[in-house]
Amino acid sequence: MARILITSAIPYINGIKHLGTLVGSQLPSDVYARYCRARGHEVMHICATDEHGTPAELAAAKAGMPVAEFCAMMWQKQADLAQGFALGFDHFGRSSSQRNHRLTQHFAGRLADAGLIAEVDEKMVYSPADGRFLPDRYVEGTCPNCGYEGARGDQCENCTKQLDPTELIDPRSAVSGATDLEVRETKHLHLRQSALADQLETWIDRQTDWPILTTSIAKKWLKDGDGLRDRGITRDLDWGIPVKRGDQDWPGMEGKVFYVWFDAPIEYIAATAEWADAHGRPDADWERWWRTDKGAKDVRYVQFMGKDNVPFHALSFPATIIGSGEPWKLVDYIKSFNFLNYQGGQFSTSKGRGVFQDQALEILPADYWRWWLMANAPETSDSEFTWAAFQAGVNKDLADVLGNFISRVTKFCRSKFGETVPKGGSYGTAEAEVIAELTARTATYQAHMDAIELRKAAAELRAIWVAGNEYLQAAAPWAVFKTDPDAAAATVRFALNLIRLYAALSAPFIPGAAASIAGALDIDVPDWPDDINAALSALIPGHGFTTPEVLFAKITDDQREAWEEQFAGQ
Ligand code: MF3
Ligand code: ZN
Repeated sequence: MARILITSAIPYINGIKHLGTLVGSQLPSDVYARYCRARGHEVMHICATDEHGTPAELAAAKAGMPVAEFCAMMWQKQADLAQGFALGFDHFGRSSSQRNHRLTQHFAGRLADAGLIAEVDEKMVYSPADGRFLPDRYVEGTCPNCGYEGARGDQCENCTKQLDPTELIDPRSAVSGATDLEVRETKHLHLRQSALADQLETWIDRQTDWPILTTSIAKKWLKDGDGLRDRGITRDLDWGIPVKRGDQDWPGMEGKVFYVWFDAPIEYIAATAEWADAHGRPDADWERWWRTDKGAKDVRYVQFMGKDNVPFHALSFPATIIGSGEPWKLVDYIKSFNFLNYQGGQFSTSKGRGVFQDQALEILPADYWRWWLMANAPETSDSEFTWAAFQAGVNKDLADVLGNFISRVTKFCRSKFGETVPKGGSYGTAEAEVIAELTARTATYQAHMDAIELRKAAAELRAIWVAGNEYLQAAAPWAVFKTDPDAAAATVRFALNLIRLYAALSAPFIPGAAASIAGALDIDVPDWPDDINAALSALIPGHGFTTPEVLFAKITDDQREAWEEQFAGQ
């Protein structure tokens, strides 16, 4: 048994996320966490909301709410959606927590003590009309790179170039639209990542087992020097974590807060502390996950995220950790994902294009989404959500293969033997062949899950379902029953045991359906099968069950067309 710490990139608080956000972090981390728990490992699964920065302030202003109230409301919404998608976090924290305030200030103090923080006079955009500096997205204007007129101070959405607000052409305030902007000097803190370059490079070079997507992005940033440039870690904003050096005031930094990307990953640690607080547990209980001097040496730490987050997790956060000089746990494995596109384009929050998490759950149960998104996860390249592919995938895998198998077996049993596992007959060569096949396939499935190759794992799980269908089709108990009811009884008994096995093996991907299947069989979701042969005799003659209602309804063409239209956006 191992101890596995799993974190999902923490979603911004500014709005409800679309399926693309789910597919690259929260959902795969949940599938993996469920699998690890099922295999008997001790798991700590952490997520939170990312509540600071200009997106939060601007979204609150747009909603006409004080930012603290807005964040509290949106946290609840996101927590409810996480529950709706059956994301089993041990704790869903908030980066605005007091724990994160203290830890972020602590790290800044340690970095300063180590000489890794520079105080720099910076030129920033100031708006006299607004009476404030306009960091990041508070300035909009024309992109100097591509000429796009709606570029934001931190990045151009059109050409994705990272920008500095002072670079924008014809800048205007995103708050008031004011154009009489000035550039003023003000002091900010820079983290001297360049001083850590060698250590970071050595550390990255040691990660030979990371996915290619992760290492290629990390190495590109290292090579271009972008990733290791000193970077500003403070901002002129009201909302955020006040700049302090540990618990001491920081002269010259009054009224400033830490940059959102400095405090957000620290929230992984803080959220684990929040978990301990929420359960009345002592600090030792969260520190054993995070402090290598307090038990975290034997922890394996796995992070999940979209590819745009990789530089912050492979370089910036490790710079904070290493630079602190304290024995904090560094990540062992970074699982990153490409993007999910929508119907030949991108999901767009501003244009309302694509399916958002709340809408998804309004139209179909979580398992439909969980299954399709993971079976088509953008692991090796970007992948694309189309309603046609979604309809075809769900109808085939869930309705025709898994659902239909369960339905045929239980209905046939009910009609010929009643709703109990039938006795009579015994397993023969056909069953032995299935046992051999599923023993091999389960080993393959586990190997893919252990390697966090979720698309391959889903394909293997599908093959495990298909094997049951093929067995049933060949054994044809409905025909055999007429001449040899005992042989038909053995087939049905074996098939009912396959259903039980499927509940266990499918639970990481489709936990809701796994629970329904187990409920119909009048059992708990079974333990992970160590021995397929034994598992396929676990349900004994006389055990009662209930024939389940339709497990997965098919998506009709009418539904598909209506949804295509509904989510097309303007
Ligand atoms: N909020 C960021 C995003 O949605 C992710 C932050 S992950 C963290 O892209 F580690 F920094 F917190
Ligand atoms: Zn541009």
